[in-house]
Amino acid sequence: MISAFYRDTWIEINLDAIYDNVHSMRQYLRDDVKLGAVVKANGYGHGVIEVAETALKAGADFLVVAILDEAIQLRQAGFQSPILVLGVVRSSDAAVAAQHNISVTVFQHEWLESAINHLPEGAKLSVHIKCDTGMGRLGFRNAEQVKKAEEIIKNSGVLSLTGIFTHFATADELDNTLFQKQYARFTEMVSALSERPSLVHSGNSAASLRFEDTWFNAVRFGISMYGLSPSMEIKECLPFPLKEALSLHTKISHVKQIEKNETVSYGATYKAQEEEWIATIPIGYADGWLRKLQGQEVLIDGKRMPIVGRVCMDQCMVKLPSFYPVGTEVTLIGVDGTELISVDEIAAKLETINYEVICILGRRIPRKYMKAGQVCSVHNDLI
Ligand SMILES: Cc1ncc(COP(=O)(O)O)c(C=O)c1O
Repeated sequence: MISAFYRDTWIEINLDAIYDNVHSMRQYLRDDVKLGAVVKANGYGHGVIEVAETALKAGADFLVVAILDEAIQLRQAGFQSPILVLGVVRSSDAAVAAQHNISVTVFQHEWLESAINHLPEGAKLSVHIKCDTGMGRLGFRNAEQVKKAEEIIKNSGVLSLTGIFTHFATADELDNTLFQKQYARFTEMVSALSERPSLVHSGNSAASLRFEDTWFNAVRFGISMYGLSPSMEIKECLPFPLKEALSLHTKISHVKQIEKNETVSYGATYKAQEEEWIATIPIGYADGWLRKLQGQEVLIDGKRMPIVGRVCMDQCMVKLPSFYPVGTEVTLIGVDGTELISVDEIAAKLETINYEVICILGRRIPRKYMKAGQVCSVHNDLI
């Protein structure tokens, strides 16, 4: 039998959940507001192609990525919708972006001058002006700089101003002080333009779910498309329920009973207090299941059981309350019976944010895509 992968560790992506999250957002926004689906970083670890397809079907108007390579990957996969690159693109690659009809983010006058020199006659590169209103990352910092950028673009003949945007640093926090300052600065910078480009956008998931004013006429919807709250602080004040799309599973690969005082894994940090059943599962830190997850519980047979001993590169061990056979399914993220281990629970254990948990899940873990409870496709990056 031909199998699409040869290791019993896999991620399940519920495409219906992604569809529903995008659809709910589409219904929540005014009709004149365009919905940008943020699919950078391999669709936040979910798989860029499948996520992009689902988001567009559910009503997204354009795709958003971080780097030019991600945008070209989408074009090569046949996506024809508008694509915006949020991060830096080399000015020497302006012609490549233009050739693929990809919009790029601009935030330096020197970059504009250099890109103009790299664009062949007849080319047209769509650009979005980025305003740094308080994030301190990329962007023009005042209205004068924005005005000058607009002038350079207008006079270039090869650049076309299709958007202007900013990014909020604290939209996911209950304290709105910096958010309000950023909003005011952005409004001022947009007003400095002699002509409004077709897309004016500022909202990530947090801002666009919380503050209608940030919509202008487009939003960049990322983390919540995947069913996750932008932060724990605002989890209870979101306008519609989100459906978590990703779950992580494996199967017991080995089971044994160990004696009292026997130890488990590197460093012998775990010592059995009595005779204990120990299962080995084939997932480790090379898969993004980090060493700090020692002590984290997993679900077997609808019950929580702890990871004992250090997490190894490709495997780790679980303490069982009694014997379970090799091949028993283990859920590391997701639902089993009445128990749930959410991405947020793993993020709390790792003292990080849910974004990081899903992005670091390794590309060597195959993704199974589910629709109506059935596997509709499998993606294995390795073979
Ligand atoms: C500039 C920009 N816009 C939008 C997003 C999407 O944010 P979120 O995933 O919080 O919706 C990001 C994410 O990092 C970003 O950097």
